[in-house]
Amino acid sequence: MTRIVIDIQSVTKRFGDLTAVDGVSVSLVEGEFFALLGPSGCGKTTLLRVIAGFEDPDEGRVLLDGEDMTPLRANRRPINLMFQSYALFPHMNVRGNISYGLEMEGLPVSAIGERVDAILEMVQLNDLASRRPHQLSGGQKQRVALARALVKQPRVLLLDEPLGALDKKLREQMQLELKRLQHELGITFVVVTHDQEEALVMADRIALMKDGKIAQLDTPEDLYERPMSRFAAGFIGVTNLFEGKVAKAAVDLNELGRHAATTGAEPGKACALSIRPERLRLSTESRLDGHNAIQGDVAEIAYHGQDMNLMIRVLGRDDPITVRLSVSDDMATVMERGQAVWCNWRPEHGRVITE
Ligand SMILES: Nc1ncnc2c1ncn2[C@@H]1O[C@H](COP(=O)(O)OP(=O)(O)OP(=O)(O)O)[C@@H](O)[C@H]1O
Ligand SMILES: [Mg+2]
Repeated sequence: MTRIVIDIQSVTKRFGDLTAVDGVSVSLVEGEFFALLGPSGCGKTTLLRVIAGFEDPDEGRVLLDGEDMTPLRANRRPINLMFQSYALFPHMNVRGNISYGLEMEGLPVSAIGERVDAILEMVQLNDLASRRPHQLSGGQKQRVALARALVKQPRVLLLDEPLGALDKKLREQMQLELKRLQHELGITFVVVTHDQEEALVMADRIALMKDGKIAQLDTPEDLYERPMSRFAAGFIGVTNLFEGKVAKAAVDLNELGRHAATTGAEPGKACALSIRPERLRLSTESRLDGHNAIQGDVAEIAYHGQDMNLMIRVLGRDDPITVRLSVSDDMATVMERGQAVWCNWRPEHGRVITE
């Protein structure tokens, strides 16, 4: 059974002439890991602040367990917001930073001690409890900020770019750690990020935002495999977009010919075909059986360790096509600049987009 914890109903928030959040409706389910993803300025932080109660919506409302939260001030909501730039108290040690919120609540000292111990263990900071923030690494500070938010046992934890300050390796490690913590605690997490890979790794569902609106709300897999718009296809991962028109069980890609496809749209309608680089298969002799194909030649090869990205120049198209090839693929050994190739894809791996 899924239970709705937070119900955001037609929320609009304006700053003067600017509509930062534009009629957003979404329900957050108990215990889910929800990501808000989108380019800078699309309204992610504003939406989070509305949920937390730091901003009043101009229209719409936010319900918690079916009750309107609008009259509730931020500090009365069972919701905690971890800010984009978390600030630890520099003069307090790790334990002090974590227990501060509970002391403010007036909890008995023994109860505070127990809860802080449990959370220190959970974020693996037991050995560092008496250190001051300046004696910690970036990742350790991050964990203190997280512990400080979690120790108050909120129903919902909102995290604004929680991993933004960390380097790539630490980010990846913390992504898994956040997921583990969320799973252990069963708290609903809403994480804001503009890093699509991070959202794909961590979230159960992702709301992709654009200009204050939700452009697509889906599981990571559906968002990646079945983008509904050119924007979604381009924002999530790398893709090759081909402009054309819908035909009967096919798409017409102008100079690049007609190719079998599942369209679900009226023939004649303008569309784009999106094909991910890893879905394209290269061949040199001829087109592969059961595949659509476009001919071109290798313009550039970029190595990425396990994979290589090939830029394929195609007649009748300005941008090269990107093809990802595993270095263990037999084709990898024959690829060199100028090599003539077929770029093949199965019809079901081309996604037809009409928005
Ligand atoms: N207090 C404010 N007064 C006026 N405009 C604001 C205010 N807060 C946000 N905005 C504007 O609202 C829009 C959305 O801002 P918001 O901070 O929600 O974006 P964001 O998606 O979090 O971006 P980023 O990824 O850069 O953090 C932006 O155009 C921003 O300039
Ligand atoms: Mg922001």
